[in-house]
Amino acid sequence: MKTKELTKGTTCACGGHHHLKRKDLCSLSDVSTQELKGWIDLAIKLKKERKAGKVHNQLAGKNLAMIFQKSSTRTRVSFEIAMRQLGGSGLYLSGNELQLGRGETIADTAQVLSRYVDGIMARVYAHSDILGLAKYATVPVINGLSDFSHPCQAVADYQTLFEHKGKLEGLTLAYVGDGNNVAHSLMFGGAKLGVNVVIVCPKGYEPKQEVTDLSSEQAKETGAKITVSNGIEAVKGADCIYTDVWASMGQEKEHDERVKIFQDYQINSKLMGMTGKKDTLFMHCLPAHRGEEVTNEVADSANSVIFDEAENRLHAQKAILVSLMA
Ligand code: CP
Ligand code: NVA
Repeated sequence: MKTKELTKGTTCACGGHHHLKRKDLCSLSDVSTQELKGWIDLAIKLKKERKAGKVHNQLAGKNLAMIFQKSSTRTRVSFEIAMRQLGGSGLYLSGNELQLGRGETIADTAQVLSRYVDGIMARVYAHSDILGLAKYATVPVINGLSDFSHPCQAVADYQTLFEHKGKLEGLTLAYVGDGNNVAHSLMFGGAKLGVNVVIVCPKGYEPKQEVTDLSSEQAKETGAKITVSNGIEAVKGADCIYTDVWASMGQEKEHDERVKIFQDYQINSKLMGMTGKKDTLFMHCLPAHRGEEVTNEVADSANSVIFDEAENRLHAQKAILVSLMA
């Protein structure tokens, strides 16, 4: 693993992490380049220390409420284990079982939970629920996926890319598939980290125009290029090919129609070859629908880093939790 620090030379007397102080993580568009790089550096440090047997206690006695309106394997387990490994604990709350599912408002839920816990992580349908929690909670709120974005995923993904390539600035990530929540967070993250992001998708499935506009604007600071294309030849030169399911949670009814529309965007060996580079990484946030957006051959290839991404959810979220809640 590379030990280089993204924030090297820019750290301060506190050890480099006081500039990470912020209340909530709703979207990476709100996070500065410095904060984002700091999270990745801290994630790598915590990962290394943990593997060396160091016991962490930065969140001793702290509790995180974890609201889930949707299914989850990685987010649920990695947040719960992250809290435990930091000396605190995570409390799983199913959206249906909470009074929220029976009409209690987001505002009241946020204020009540703030009286019990030290932080709230939520996976929701409407992004406005994340913003509502952040507005009314007096404790930090972390977006664990909304229909709009999935910031924790992108932090873990850029950590993974950095670990494998030894740098981020100037790399090109081609996201092939649906211009969805994961694509949005990768666009904002790339803009802040100097990674060019090319979204390659069928017509009508582009990322939200506001995300393309805002991430392109924010990318001016790092010089990254954020582009959207309908042609798969746009993957040429990519250092990484990223994909996600064609039908996200909540879009199950559109699945069959989408499978037809997205056929030409499947990541298979032929498409991987189109980058013209032998060391192009394959990335996927998981869960994968093998045989749809990616073939087994690519998902299980030597260039695939999908399980490193899954592992890094744990480390990246620990960094986020420490900087928001410690
Ligand atoms: N990538 C991700 O968020 O996975 P889960 O849906 O399993 O949490
Ligand atoms: N875009 C997918 C990501 C799952 C982690 C979804 O929202 O279902």
